[in-house]
Amino acid sequence: MASVDYERHDYDVLVIGAGGAGMRAAIESLEQGCRTALVCKSLFGKAHTVMAEGGMAAALGNVWPEDNWQVHFRDTMRGGKMLNNWRMAQLHAQEAPDRVLELEAWGALFDRTPDGRILQRDFGGHRYARLAHVGDRTGLELIRTTQQRAVGLGIDVYMELKIVRLLKNDSGEVIGAVGFYRDKGNFVVFSAKSIVLATGGVGKSWKFTSNSWESTGDGHALALWAGADAIEMECVQFHPTGMIWPTSARGLLVTEGVRGDGGVLKNSEGERFMFNYISPYFKDETAETIEEGDKWYEDKVNYRRPPELLPRDEVARAINSEVKAGRGSPHGGVFLDIASRRSPEYIKRRLPSMYHQFKQLADVDITAVPMEIGPTCHYIMGGIRVDADTEETAVAGLFAAGEVAGGMHGANRLGGNSLSDLLVFGRRAGLAAAERAKASSVETTLSEAQIKEVIDHATSFFANEGGENPYDLHHELQETMQNLVGIIRTESELIEAKEKLAELGERAKKVTATGGREFNPGWHLALDLESMLAVANCTTLSAIERKESRGGHTRDDYPKADPELEKVNMVSRYREGNYSVTPEPKPEMPPELMALIELSEGEGKSAPAKEESK
Ligand code: FUM
Repeated sequence: MASVDYERHDYDVLVIGAGGAGMRAAIESLEQGCRTALVCKSLFGKAHTVMAEGGMAAALGNVWPEDNWQVHFRDTMRGGKMLNNWRMAQLHAQEAPDRVLELEAWGALFDRTPDGRILQRDFGGHRYARLAHVGDRTGLELIRTTQQRAVGLGIDVYMELKIVRLLKNDSGEVIGAVGFYRDKGNFVVFSAKSIVLATGGVGKSWKFTSNSWESTGDGHALALWAGADAIEMECVQFHPTGMIWPTSARGLLVTEGVRGDGGVLKNSEGERFMFNYISPYFKDETAETIEEGDKWYEDKVNYRRPPELLPRDEVARAINSEVKAGRGSPHGGVFLDIASRRSPEYIKRRLPSMYHQFKQLADVDITAVPMEIGPTCHYIMGGIRVDADTEETAVAGLFAAGEVAGGMHGANRLGGNSLSDLLVFGRRAGLAAAERAKASSVETTLSEAQIKEVIDHATSFFANEGGENPYDLHHELQETMQNLVGIIRTESELIEAKEKLAELGERAKKVTATGGREFNPGWHLALDLESMLAVANCTTLSAIERKESRGGHTRDDYPKADPELEKVNMVSRYREGNYSVTPEPKPEMPPELMALIELSEGEGKSAPAKEESK
């Protein structure tokens, strides 16, 4: 018997994580008639999804009729520097419009075109204005709408519950999970025929991040510990525009919608420096002079987009270089100026959250003066390897969708592709999980010994007498990842990080949780540290292994992309207490899709968008 009592629940499908992907997976599973539970670490309705503010990308063609799934696919692959799982990118581009329209049918109140269709906004790396949006609160609208839908379908929600480990049967299938309520500290055990991980990201391992406290990589770690593979964990996205001042707000997201709606980046000399950083991938469609770029805003005849709308990896690196060259702003970033380009009324209407955020947190009026911004850790492209069509991992019964899954975004995600990813793959994961649960005769008898082992482990931190404070370790972990595994990396620093992580791993086993299990954030952090260290190890090892620069992985010592490394996934695994990374060949793209990548301007225009999308 377990040393501590626990409550027990049995379901067909258990969804862990209640951001956009988890919500959409749960809705699908319920609609398939499965007994479904949704577990969230935070409060129901509070998820990092809300930090995708500017919109969800889908080739609806409402603003640019020329847009279609083929161009969206091309942009996604180019933006991901060709490391994407092509099948995921294809499914995403094809299905995103249906998911947006479905969300609208469920009640999402998108901004409208003058003739009443869903308005679409410009974002980096997207050829056409493609982001369906609700001002700068799109993620919030997605959560609000799916939450309402899930509640209407009768979802069982377990809130403020942290899952510690997944449970497997003798055949190696995932059949359950053990966790505890964060308030009372009471343990909970679930059995389920299918489990969907939708736990989101990992940002809390870095010092400056747009992510909130939940983003500790729990799902990545749970899957790895259960035997699943992770890919491309080296590819971490630093969003170019986070707040950098005041210190208390450092890292908070400044939506790409500011640039999408006309904001420009300037250095301390007042120069629009992005013109000096135009990459070959996007040269054919990026304006090389201010006049060209400005015309594009005004009359939409000139297709060449301003360089502020290059993909995020490129903009973040450019900002980094400007600061390093001594052309930064007073607090170590650069300036983002929309005040001199748009009227105060326009800014307040299109970007209400940004207006209030700067006014309230920094006493800055963005309708009058530029903002000071700098890169912030926002998203991990790497994640658990899944089958593109079903989102099943290498472990039977375990599915992953959203940020916790890898492949879709390659080496760099385009802004706006996350919200549509959550809906497309959340639905697919929920469907496949439900089908498995309905069809299978999975043996779901849980082992008491396994449960006891997990609970004993989780409570062991109370018995670590005289151990370190978990907050001190977290601080050291964040310093390590920020300074040694940040935007620009180099072999010697990565090796230093690897050694530091080994040391932190040993020390983390001995941290002390003082007090009892009720309302004990120090204890929670002791357990979250295990997840964060899992992620940090995989990121660092993969970063050492990928000896090139590509997307969200820049090596100072290997500044170019290596065509041979475009063909491989960096696969992370956890075996017998150790993390390892191996390069493995990645699935080859069929020639007809490869041909789309080369689509030059105008070629996509005649391609039928909807007919071929099924
Ligand atoms: O900048 C933003 O609004 C973030 C969007 C995203 O990460 O997709």
